[in-house]
Amino acid sequence: MNIAVVGLSHKTAPVEVREKLSIPEPQTEGAIAHLLSYPHIDEVAILSTCNRLEIYIVSSEITYGIQEVTQFLAEHSKLPIISLRQHLFTLMHSDAVTHVMRVAAGLDSLVLGEGQILAQVKNTHKLGQQFNGIKTTLNRLFKQAITAGKRVRTETSIGTGAVSISSAAVELAQIKVENLAPYRIAILGAGKMSRLLVQHLISKGATRIAIVNRSRERAEELAKQFSEVPIKIHLLPEMISVVSHSDIVFTSTSSTEPILDRAKLEMVLDPNHSLMLFDISVPRNVDADVNDLPNVQAFNVDDLKAVVAQNYESRRKMAQEAEKILDEEVADFDVWWRSLETVSTISSLRNKVENIREQELQKALSRLGSEFGEKHQEVIEALTRGIVNKILHDPMVQLRSQQDVEARRNCMRTLQMLFNLDAEEQFS
Ligand SMILES: NC(=O)c1ccc[n+]([C@@H]2O[C@H](COP(=O)([O-])OP(=O)(O)OC[C@H]3O[C@@H](n4cnc5c(N)ncnc54)[C@H](OP(=O)(O)O)[C@@H]3O)[C@@H](O)[C@H]2O)c1
Repeated sequence: MNIAVVGLSHKTAPVEVREKLSIPEPQTEGAIAHLLSYPHIDEVAILSTCNRLEIYIVSSEITYGIQEVTQFLAEHSKLPIISLRQHLFTLMHSDAVTHVMRVAAGLDSLVLGEGQILAQVKNTHKLGQQFNGIKTTLNRLFKQAITAGKRVRTETSIGTGAVSISSAAVELAQIKVENLAPYRIAILGAGKMSRLLVQHLISKGATRIAIVNRSRERAEELAKQFSEVPIKIHLLPEMISVVSHSDIVFTSTSSTEPILDRAKLEMVLDPNHSLMLFDISVPRNVDADVNDLPNVQAFNVDDLKAVVAQNYESRRKMAQEAEKILDEEVADFDVWWRSLETVSTISSLRNKVENIREQELQKALSRLGSEFGEKHQEVIEALTRGIVNKILHDPMVQLRSQQDVEARRNCMRTLQMLFNLDAEEQFS
């Protein structure tokens, strides 16, 4: 069995491609079932965020497993394999293990050290288990990655300053206008990213904020959290009117289709009114055709790269500290992963010895006859079990603790030969 990850990220693909590959949460169950229906995919987990779509697999035939994931991605995105391939990366074995740890720790994020990715990795783990994609190996891998992510956040200063895509978007807006205070700002969406937008906007001096959301309840809950600034609340049918009366609009909804485009804006925008749109959603909420309007300036997540470059420099040293923690977590996973190959030898040895114990016990009990009391039988049963467990304990511990691959395999071969075991050879 081997591990691989096939995917694409902000480092390998622009947002126009990433959004085609994105797998929204409601589609996760179907995607996992589809991937598991391929002959060489034994376990699967899907990590879909604004910055990346990654599919982790466990397969006994890893090359075929990778081909099957690539095939799935081409079908899902409706992109020909040839054009998709230039954006895909594939990592195998320990490289895949190291990668998921770096991702969970925020070291592979567009905004280095952002905290949201850890929650997204946890969600991948939860959904993978819920829809039966994650079994023994990926369960251990994701648990270890989550531990790694938590350790990096608590043992280094990489999370200080609460950086996120939202904070970077607010920073970009501030660079464009300098002083946010006089501007009428609208936020489309009232989810996690919108909450961070409001928080950063207020901390940067914004005072005229409106939220437009699909449901009123969530927007009201959000507004309540920021009593220092009066926040106006609107529902989606009022969106176009609110946008037309705003100077700056942030979009952060989970809509899979654009909710703003040229046609909608053209109808309501005064030609003398300049509008700036900051879209942090993937798939994008703002159609690229708005750029045809002379009075509209639109930015998306990929436009945040310039802002985050400065952030990257200041966090690079912290990232180096984090890499040391990740090395420890990777090594921990590796010990567990390697110990897996001893499972079949250990269970063969246990079965063999257990069969001997049961046969010899039955012989002894039948010789003792029916007058031999039940209580005495229990004592003899416990005695034989105790002896067997004690004899097997040391060889099992010794075998599992062999770190060196060849030394461990030699031990397994010796055990198989000496005890005449028919353990399946997993390491030939
Ligand atoms: N989470 C992150 O770390 C992160 C980072 C960067 C970018 N993003 C992107 O930001 C966007 C929002 O993410 P989030 O984490 O804030 O999501 P979230 O907490 O789940 O909130 C989703 C928001 O989108 C609204 N919504 C959902 N479907 C909609 C539709 N069809 N039309 C209009 N509104 C709709 C929801 O309205 P209701 O309240 O009515 O349900 C809610 O306000 C996503 O595109 C995501 O990829 C997320």
